[in-house]
Amino acid sequence: MTAKPAHLNFGETNVELPVIDAAIGPSVVDIGKLYAKTGLFTYDPGFTSTAACESAITYIDGDQGVLLYRGYPIEQLAEHGDFLETCYLLLNGKLPTVAEKEDFVGRVTHHTMIHEQMSRFFQGFRRDAHPMAVMVGCVGALSAFYHDSLDIEDPYQRMVASIRMIAKMPTIAAHAYKYTIGQPFIYPTNSLDYTTNFLKMCFAVPCEEYKPNPVLSRALDRIFILHADHEQNASTSTVRLAGSSGANPFACIAAGIACLWGPAHGGANEAALKMLEEIGTVDRIPHFIAKAKDKNDPFRLMGFGHRVYKNYDPRAKIMQKTCHEVLKELGIKDDPLLDVAMELERIALSDPYFIEKKLYPNIDFYSGITLKALGFPTSMFTVLFALARTVGWIAQWAEMIQDPAQKIGRPRQIYTGPTQRDYVPITARR
Ligand code: CMC
Repeated sequence: MTAKPAHLNFGETNVELPVIDAAIGPSVVDIGKLYAKTGLFTYDPGFTSTAACESAITYIDGDQGVLLYRGYPIEQLAEHGDFLETCYLLLNGKLPTVAEKEDFVGRVTHHTMIHEQMSRFFQGFRRDAHPMAVMVGCVGALSAFYHDSLDIEDPYQRMVASIRMIAKMPTIAAHAYKYTIGQPFIYPTNSLDYTTNFLKMCFAVPCEEYKPNPVLSRALDRIFILHADHEQNASTSTVRLAGSSGANPFACIAAGIACLWGPAHGGANEAALKMLEEIGTVDRIPHFIAKAKDKNDPFRLMGFGHRVYKNYDPRAKIMQKTCHEVLKELGIKDDPLLDVAMELERIALSDPYFIEKKLYPNIDFYSGITLKALGFPTSMFTVLFALARTVGWIAQWAEMIQDPAQKIGRPRQIYTGPTQRDYVPITARR
């Protein structure tokens, strides 16, 4: 604690509040003792100015458009690294050596199968269930299958649970997809890398040989890197809040998946693609821009805007490049959706409404087009986000468990309901 304290005057009381400096980014006023000293709570819906924890995992500078995982810029990791290396980095705080990486990849690879009983668990869902609904159920159900990694006080069990989730998430996601389209589940292939194995489990069928495409595998692997963590967003905060009660890691990650599903968060990639399809042609863009600007119209440009980024989302730039690479590899020269997206981006970025509100494309703007080109239906987009974000959730959960300052999350409120009143017998009520 090096910074000068802050002072709050309230009536006759002057309270000194410690200020804690961050390694980079804004310092924070420690208000932990505010209620004890003044009887006041603070009010900050949506946590727009409130830090809920200390974290050494991910840093975002929303004004500059910077995203660092453990200090490394996202651009460098996406260009030179791979997803499992990024997982190791997020979990362990350092990039692995050759031997460490080999060991980590080996452990993940040998945990990719799911309990056979669990494969049958899928049959209980309706065929038309949204795969995110299946994910919430199946990931939560992992805690019913892996009893030997539920003790959150045991570092070894925490590590095993982490490896299991990173390893099994592609298998569960691919099963969720196969189930909805009525095709047989494809078992993992340990000779393939993480992402190619996932693509195979999604797109292979038993009657044909599956031929991996390294360009597409690399593109999806990069998409996974981009989604791996994003500091204290809604789903990560959900995981931390669930974990703060001592709930087991599988249950916490299932809670994160449920939160991610919403269209303001992970569901935005699905919503962005649906919006581009609804716009359909470039000449209809002005109509939708006008709707987005109309205060009386709830319509928003999906894939635009971000709580933290008030500049171009650095992930969106990489995603745009990846999108072009995927379309080129697949020989898609004229994708009308891409035309609409690029023109929409151009118009929005020169429109005073979007400029003044600092609304830039976010990661979800181009991810939908890319994932669609890779062959995924829109309902799977958020599932892929969940798959990739699992490592971030686990890293944040593990950091919280080991934080000596950790206590159960328990926000306060401003009560606005009736004050105390007496029960009235039903016959006497008006
Ligand atoms: N289109 C039109 N206007 C917008 C948009 C948009 N996409 N986003 C924000 N605004 C306006 C909003 O109407 C408000 O205007 P005013 O100040 O006049 O009331 C102003 O910009 C600030 O918006 P806000 O809702 O207070 O900002 P927020 O930080 O609470 O919301 C957001 C952030 C991402 C939920 C929001 O920008 C949004 O709904 N975007 C569309 C959904 C989307 O793309 N979500 C993906 C986020 S990135 C992936 C992830 O992290 O999950």
